[in-house]
Amino acid sequence: MRTQVAIAGAGPAGLLLSHLLSLRGIDSVVLESRDRAYVEKRQRAGMLEQGTVDVLRGSGVGERLDREGLTHHGLELRFGGAGHRIPLSELTGGRTVTVYAQTEIVKDLIAARPAAGGDVRFEAEVLSVDPSAPSVTYRQDGRVQTLECDVIAGCDGFHGVCRAAVPGATVFEREYPFAWLGILADVPPSTDELIYAYSERGFALYSLRSPKISRLYLQVDPSDDVAAWPDERIWAELRARFATRDGWELRDGPVLEKAITPMRSFVTEPMRHDRLFLAGDAAHIVPPTGAKGLNLAISDVTVLAAALGAWYDSGSTELLDAYSATCLRRVWRAEHFSYWMTTLLHKDPRQDAFGHRLQLSHLEYVAASKAAAATLAENYVGAAPKL
Ligand code: FAD
Ligand code: DHB
Repeated sequence: MRTQVAIAGAGPAGLLLSHLLSLRGIDSVVLESRDRAYVEKRQRAGMLEQGTVDVLRGSGVGERLDREGLTHHGLELRFGGAGHRIPLSELTGGRTVTVYAQTEIVKDLIAARPAAGGDVRFEAEVLSVDPSAPSVTYRQDGRVQTLECDVIAGCDGFHGVCRAAVPGATVFEREYPFAWLGILADVPPSTDELIYAYSERGFALYSLRSPKISRLYLQVDPSDDVAAWPDERIWAELRARFATRDGWELRDGPVLEKAITPMRSFVTEPMRHDRLFLAGDAAHIVPPTGAKGLNLAISDVTVLAAALGAWYDSGSTELLDAYSATCLRRVWRAEHFSYWMTTLLHKDPRQDAFGHRLQLSHLEYVAASKAAAATLAENYVGAAPKL
């Protein structure tokens, strides 16, 4: 069997790439190891940069996003028992961010594929890829098969197989001494805007999914087990970390889901070998503080779709040759921002008293200085200048 672009992984990167290629008349086959229900339910990110919303809307999959997405113009930094609003739109010439869950983007993209003649195969596990005589070997229904292609897109996430097919790659990595416990709760949000809270007890984030559903995160120890976090303990800890001197109240409710995510920074360079192109989490991971992971994945495949379009149209390899460097400039900006937000807002158990005082001073500076707040804002909304 043969296609033009073989895509490993039906996460946001693989699905959107397949969609963008079909709009350019380029055939693709998406191979996904999990079943459809699993892929559609996996709880992850929720904050979209304006550029991400523009790509989804511009490619015709933004209808539900426009209806159900929640537009945000600011966020709150909370520390020392008080909140400090960062007016994102005011500081970035009117740009906004949108809360719309990754699960919903994935559902919208899967729903759009058959209408455009898309071929997405679930429970089809990629076993290996050959970047030089481009082909993908995969197993479906217990049978090992080969898919011949012009190009392979490695969109198979951090635990996928494609990254290993880039020989001689350089890896840059950092681990953090904390993890996030994320919950989805059946309770109307106690806030209109996201709250990033630093406290002596550690970081907490209040996000939302809809007027009825809240999404919250707590810094925990990476060795913690979710079993050690019964619902009452989670709400008590959230209440303590979000506490303000003016008596702000946190509403609680039934916890629908909970999971612990480790935090790491990771980049592999280059993002290409021969006819294999890596995109999204297959090539880079950011710690979630600042919500860049999903936005980077969308940005990578937008660059790749344009480069493949130019190659099929004119035979020019210019954009494909620039793919890795083009993506990595943005990746490294997001790596720095996510690292910065993470170290600004988490309680690091290795931190000495001096480091702790520096951290508090830094938080106060971001809250008080328009210049510092603008740095946060332009990175958060994705408006930082291209370097
Ligand atoms: P993925 O979404 O990981 O998709 C890769 C796909 O490839 C998966 O469907 C996987 O099943 C499939 N696959 C893997 N191996 C194979 C194989 N051998 N063959 C076929 N298919 C394969 N970002 C934020 O901004 N905020 C958050 O709060 C946040 N929370 C997260 C929580 C978790 C647990 C994780 C893992 C990530 C989180 N992220 C978050 C990051 C964000 O979700 C990712 O950056 C985003 O999913 C990247 O999309 P992707 O398509 O590159 O990779
Ligand atoms: C969400 C996740 C993040 O990592 C973040 O910084 C903001 C929001 C979310 O899941 O809604």
